Amino acid sequence: MAKKTYKIAVIPGDGTGPEVVAEGLKVLQAVAEKFGFSLDTAEYDFGGDRYLRTGEVLPANAADEMKKFDAIFLGAIGHPDVKPGILEKGILLKLRFDLDQYINLRPVRLYPGVETPLKDKGPNEIDYVVVRENTGGLYTGIGGFTMKGTEHEVAVQSMVYNRHQVERCLRYAFEYTRKFGKKARGKGDKNTLALVGKTNVLTFVYDLWERAFHEIGASDYPDIARDYYHVDATCMWMVKNPEWFDVLVTGNMFGDIITDLGAITQGGMGIAAGGNINPEGVSMFEPIGGSAPKYTGKNIINPLASICCGAMMLEHLGEVDAANAIEEAVMDVTGTKLKSLSAGKMGYSTQEVGDLVAERV
Ligand code: IPM
Ligand code: MN
Repeated sequence: MAKKTYKIAVIPGDGTGPEVVAEGLKVLQAVAEKFGFSLDTAEYDFGGDRYLRTGEVLPANAADEMKKFDAIFLGAIGHPDVKPGILEKGILLKLRFDLDQYINLRPVRLYPGVETPLKDKGPNEIDYVVVRENTGGLYTGIGGFTMKGTEHEVAVQSMVYNRHQVERCLRYAFEYTRKFGKKARGKGDKNTLALVGKTNVLTFVYDLWERAFHEIGASDYPDIARDYYHVDATCMWMVKNPEWFDVLVTGNMFGDIITDLGAITQGGMGIAAGGNINPEGVSMFEPIGGSAPKYTGKNIINPLASICCGAMMLEHLGEVDAANAIEEAVMDVTGTKLKSLSAGKMGYSTQEVGDLVAERV
């Protein structure tokens, strides 16, 4: 029987992106070998260096080109010589929007042996997932200036959502909770989806979210428990009682903010992985941490976030056993090998960490 082959677009990007992507791919190739599928990769040089060389942020046909693939594996975007915003908006957000990757999936999971800044919390307590809406809200860029540069200058940026956007995000979150909630994973007696909002102040946008949440939940997902938290309170509970959470769903801006908080509680940027998901299209997997220019080329950056992105990508492609094998190998490495997750303090080089995981899958 012919082996199943997945076509993967690889965007190593800037800074330490290429170094971590190389280790992510090393582990993916190892696991593919073991589980009997193959990965056909094609590399794209999108990023700061290409922009500085050519003056073009992203080729006009980039999104169409990406649609030829089963998934995109991305390193990091961000260059010290390029003004902040140009590459983020021109590459990262542009791909998310053009490919309609309307979900940003961010697991917050503390692995064994990993240090968390949260006192008295361990892997049992820090184990939840944030489903962030990824193409709407404040990120749509609706707004503008008037009287710019004067003392009466006005700047407006609107939080915009339509029912369709909210509904598709909520449905994804309910489906995800049914499949991967705490009960589904054997870690609790129910699967719970919590909406994170601000219904006490954002009385239009989060009113829409809240109504849709309960309507859809009551009619189509009665088996899933529903909770609601204000976003500010969520930040407190993420620190004080993270064990309360199972799956959280929220809008784009709140999701951006709380997932950085979540990332630091799971050990930081060395480990935090995310997926930009279009359930009906092409999804893109990227570590939450940036391009870390000061560590570039030193073989000291932690590649585990990229390796975990590989696991997320395989899970998304339906290779669940292979994805679990990577996650277990990562847990073994954090639990028995690494001294720290920080660049330069792991006790191993970037490439050695890749080898340690690859050996174990
Ligand atoms: C993230 C990042 C991006 C975002 C930036 C780089 C545009 O912070 O993926 O969380 O705000 O979504
Ligand atoms: Mn962010």
